[in-house]
Amino acid sequence: MRIVVTQDHESFNRRSAREIAGQIRNKPDSVLGFATGNTTEGVYRELVSLHREGQLDFGHVSSFVLDEYEGAFLANPASCAARMTAQLFGQVNMQKNHVYLMESTATDLDRVCAEYEVQIRKSGGIDLQILGIGTNGHIAFNEPGTAFHSITRVVNVGEQTRTARAGMFSASGEVPRKGVTMGIKTIMNAGRILLLAKGADKAGIIRETLLGPVDAKVPASVLQLHPFLTVILDTQASKELNLSFAEE
Ligand code: GLP
Repeated sequence: MRIVVTQDHESFNRRSAREIAGQIRNKPDSVLGFATGNTTEGVYRELVSLHREGQLDFGHVSSFVLDEYEGAFLANPASCAARMTAQLFGQVNMQKNHVYLMESTATDLDRVCAEYEVQIRKSGGIDLQILGIGTNGHIAFNEPGTAFHSITRVVNVGEQTRTARAGMFSASGEVPRKGVTMGIKTIMNAGRILLLAKGADKAGIIRETLLGPVDAKVPASVLQLHPFLTVILDTQASKELNLSFAEE
C-alpha cells in the first residue's frame, strides 16, 4: 500500500490526476474504472486540462463506470453516466465505443450486470480502478456487509448515499432506491487501485479502512489485501493516521 498525503485541494487533484495520467502514458490502451462523486470531480478537471494542453491522449483508453442509479441514465444529469460524460468522457478524445456505461433504464438489470462483467473481461480487465469512499466505508454501492466475492449486480442504494445525493436528484424526484454496481470482487480484480479521499469527515473511515481489521463491516478494508493499492488523501482525511509511513 502506498499512501500519499497532499497539502491542499489543488495538489490533491493534481497528484491524483498524475497517477491516472502515468497509467495511460505507460499503457496507452489502458482500461480504467471511474468513480463519480465530489472527490473525483476536480481530479477529472485536471485530466481534461492535461488533455487540452496536449499532454494526455485518451484515444486508446477504455473506460468503465463503477456504478449507476436505477432508471437514471444519460438523460438525467444526476446519473453517473451523465456526470462522467460531462466531467471527463465528453471532454477528451475517448472513443465512444470504448466507453462502457451501465444501462440502468433497461428492464432486465440482472442481464445488464452480467453483460458488464463480460465486457470487462473482454476488454482485458481493468488496469486501474479509481475509487472514492463513503463515510461508512462503502465503495461503489457496496454497503457494509457486502460479501467480498460479490460481482456486478443490482443493489439497494444505502440511506447515507441517498441522503448525500438528495440535492443532486431534486430536479428529477427522489434518489433511486436501487442501483447497479461493480462488486467487491470486480473491483479487487483490477490490476491497480487508486483510492481517493478528502475532507475531515472521511478521516475516521480512512483510519478504519487502512489500519483496522479487514472486515465486511467496512467494505473498503478489503483494499488492504490488494497488492497495488495507492491511497491519495488530503491532510484532513489523513489526520487519524500515523503519518510517519506516508509520502508527500
Ligand atoms: C458514492 C458513490 C461512490 C463514491 C462515493 C464517495 O455513493 N457510489 O462511487 O465514490 O459515494 O462520494 P464522494 O466523493 O462524493 O464523497
